[in-house]
Parts: sequence; structure tokens; C-alpha cells
Amino acid sequence: MELNIALLAGDGIGPEVIAQAVKVCDAVAEKYNHKINWQPALTGAAAIDAVGDPYPEETHAICAGSDAVLFGAIGHPRFDNDPSAKVRPEQGLLKMRQKLGLFANVRPTFTFPSLIDRSPLKRERIEGTDLVFLRELTGGIYFGKRGREDNGETAYDTCTYTRKEVQRLARKGFEMAMKRSKKLCCVDKANVLESSRLWRETVQAMEKDYPEVNVSYEFVDAVAMRLVQWPNAYDVLITENLFGDILTDEASVISGSMGLMPSASLGESIGLYEPIHGSYPQAAGKDIANPLATVLSAAMMFDDFGLLEEAQAIRDVVNRSLAEGVVTEDLAEKGKARKTSEVGDWLAKNL
Ligand code: IPM
Ligand code: MN
Repeated sequence: MELNIALLAGDGIGPEVIAQAVKVCDAVAEKYNHKINWQPALTGAAAIDAVGDPYPEETHAICAGSDAVLFGAIGHPRFDNDPSAKVRPEQGLLKMRQKLGLFANVRPTFTFPSLIDRSPLKRERIEGTDLVFLRELTGGIYFGKRGREDNGETAYDTCTYTRKEVQRLARKGFEMAMKRSKKLCCVDKANVLESSRLWRETVQAMEKDYPEVNVSYEFVDAVAMRLVQWPNAYDVLITENLFGDILTDEASVISGSMGLMPSASLGESIGLYEPIHGSYPQAAGKDIANPLATVLSAAMMFDDFGLLEEAQAIRDVVNRSLAEGVVTEDLAEKGKARKTSEVGDWLAKNL
């Protein structure tokens, strides 16, 4: 298979973790006789510096013309404490999601047997956790009407959803549930919010199309609690944009390191694959960041190409690196940490 993959390294540790994923993908391509054409493009603070736009038109053209996008991270501390900054790296990510129509963000949370004691949660609570969030990604409060009134003394952001937006996300949730344990949880705040009532009503009406799926409806505050109490209670969870943003960061704690969890953002055609961690500016350029979340995101990409064996080969070699302790400092025993680039080399070599 010949694959054209847009490569958006972005900011902070983005370029370092992306470089390891490229090594691993190239090793897979060699082993299974594929050809990958990498198409690097600018995004984030790097793109603001170069052309004044965190998601330039040229980058969009490269992404839209590719089979998939592999993405590192964006964000730079010089923007964080400057509320007046007009252009921010994060806007690039939001613009990209919107322009590529990436409405479904797939964020799995699972545990690795060799790392179970690294989690701050007790072993007996988290053993066997294997759940996946489907976070709506192009609607809600992130993209609603916003503004200031009253000479700037009042600010508002509005959360709006259409039935169609809920349906297309929920459909992906039902389909995923059918392939897994046929259990779906709709996370909302329907006791308070009108938009949540639309979610609940829409999902309820879809239940008849998937009679085998067992659907539950839970309030977001209760899910936030149960997620760390008994994560095993969940399998597929669907939710709106902001709730999903918050809950998936919380869920990443279960696995023991944020540096481990991959994600995919899907729409009608191409997908974008990225680690769920951010740009971790304190570690940038130090060759210490954990590349596994990005490598595992590449595995999700191979899955979506229908290249299941290739995807599994990546997961297998990642598991071996964890079991053998070939890991970066976030996971290593004292004095045994490997560099980001060493982990990438080891994975590519042992694949
Ligand atoms: C994420 C990030 C983004 C979001 C930010 C960087 C805009 O936190 O991908 O979860 O809030 O969606
Ligand atoms: Mn987030």
C-alpha cells in the first residue's frame, strides 16, 4: 500500500516524539512492504512564527490531500499568560479540526500489565480497565457564540448542538459498542442543560436501531467520580466537547502516565492521529519525553487503514519495550531512563 501522510510535528516535544513515530512507521512499512510518503507541514507556534497563522492554508491543503495526518503537539508558554494575544497556537488545532471535519475524537484508556503499579490508583480498582471515550470535537462551547458585553465586564461562551451533530457522533459510539462489549454510556448534564437534554433525547431515539447495545445515561459529575473509583464499569462513553476534554485528561491518569495514551480524530474521510498529551515545553529539546503515546497513535492509524497486523506489531513492540524497561524517565526506575530517541531506535529495530 502507498500511504501519503501529513506530518505535523508542532511545538515543544512534538518534533521529538513525532520523529520516533516516523522511525517506527518506516520500520513497519519496510517489514510489510508499504511505502509511506511523509509530507511535513507547519502548525502551532512554529507556524505563527513562520507565517503568522497556526494552521496556514498551505498546511490545510497538505492535510486535506493526504490519507491521514500524524500530529505531535501544539502550545507555547509565551502565549499562556498573555490573554491579549490575538493569535494562539491552540487556534490552529481548533481550525484544523473544524476544516477537516474531525467531529469524533476517539480516546482510549487502558492499562499495561507491566505498569499497573505506576498508576496512582489502586491495582484492584484499575486492573483490566479498557474503555474508550468518543468526544464530540467540532461543536459545543468550543465553537459557540462568544463575546463581551457591558464594556468588557461581562463575558459569555455558548454551548450549542444540533440533532445532526449528536446523531453522527452517537452513531460512531453505537458502532464502536457493537464491536466491543455492546455497552454505551451517554455522559451529559441533562438535569440542568438544554443541550444535554437534546443529546439524551437524540441518543434515546437511536437505541431502537441498535437493540443489542445496552445504553446508560449518566451525569458528568457522577462519571468524573466513578471513573477513578471503578473505571471497569465503563466501556464506550460518548459525550460533548468540553466534558470530553476534561474527562479524558482525568482518565489518562488510570494508565499511569499521560505519555502513554493515543488518540484519533475522525470525520467522514481522513483521520488525524495524535498523543493526548500536550507540548510539554519544559522538556522540549531534552530528548526525555515519552514517545509511546505518539507511537501508539500511529498504531491506531494503521488500524483505520485496515492494516490490523501492522497495528498489532506496533503494540506488541511497545509492550515489549515496557516489559523490558526500555522506557523514558517518566516510567523508568532510578538511573535506568532511556532517551526519547533511544526508545524510538529500539522500537524500530525490534519490530
Ligand atoms: C486537547 C487539548 C485541546 C482541547 C486544546 C489544546 C485546545 O486540550 O486536545 O484535549 O481543549 O481540545
Ligand atoms: Mn484537553
